[in-house]
Amino acid sequence: MNNTKNIVVLVSGGGTNLQALIDAQARGELGSGKITCVISSKANAYALTRAQNNGIKTRTLIRKDYNDIAEYSIAMRDALLEEKADIIVYAGFMTILDENVCDAFVNRMVNVHPALIPSFCGKGYYGLHVHEEALKKGVKVSGATVHFVTAECDAGPIILQKAVKVLDDDTPETLQKRIMEQAEWKILPQAVKLLCDEKIAVVDGKTYIK
Ligand code: GAR
Repeated sequence: MNNTKNIVVLVSGGGTNLQALIDAQARGELGSGKITCVISSKANAYALTRAQNNGIKTRTLIRKDYNDIAEYSIAMRDALLEEKADIIVYAGFMTILDENVCDAFVNRMVNVHPALIPSFCGKGYYGLHVHEEALKKGVKVSGATVHFVTAECDAGPIILQKAVKVLDDDTPETLQKRIMEQAEWKILPQAVKLLCDEKIAVVDGKTYIK
């Protein structure tokens, strides 16, 4: 039997993906994982309230309190080690951490991105911007991707993807909502469960579900 794995969730905003993880845990759908801490890069993120409402420990690590991304990444790595994090989930976490964090948690950090990587991803593609660009391009499907985090933004091995139809009258907001409801809130908890249960193998930059 697996030991319980400490899941630390990193957030910056509203926290609907965090909520999906909390709800999955309540339904017994996170396997051997347990959300033990939520760390926010913003002091007023509503995600912190969601965590507190569910009795989950919270911490804030404010990006602008640090001179540069290296200093911030080292502080984040130390916080994650203090929290004895086994698995780290970026759930709407809007800061790109460097190798100080990524090298300490190889194949143990996942991110949910609101598009089908390699489309509409990389630096500058976050939140509503992703959907604005997808609509500008006129794609007929978009979706969400859960992938491992590496120091290169949105470039780590892909774990799960789910496609969602784009409608002619979509706005960035309606597309974002549909992708969250139909894709992100489903595949993020699924991927976290797979990781907690040690069901993901990574070979030559690709993942295989055991
Ligand atoms: C989600 O759509 C998430 O995929 C996206 O921001 C939103 C956060 O919502 N993340 C990124 O764009 C990261 N590149 P939430 O705070 O309600 O989970």
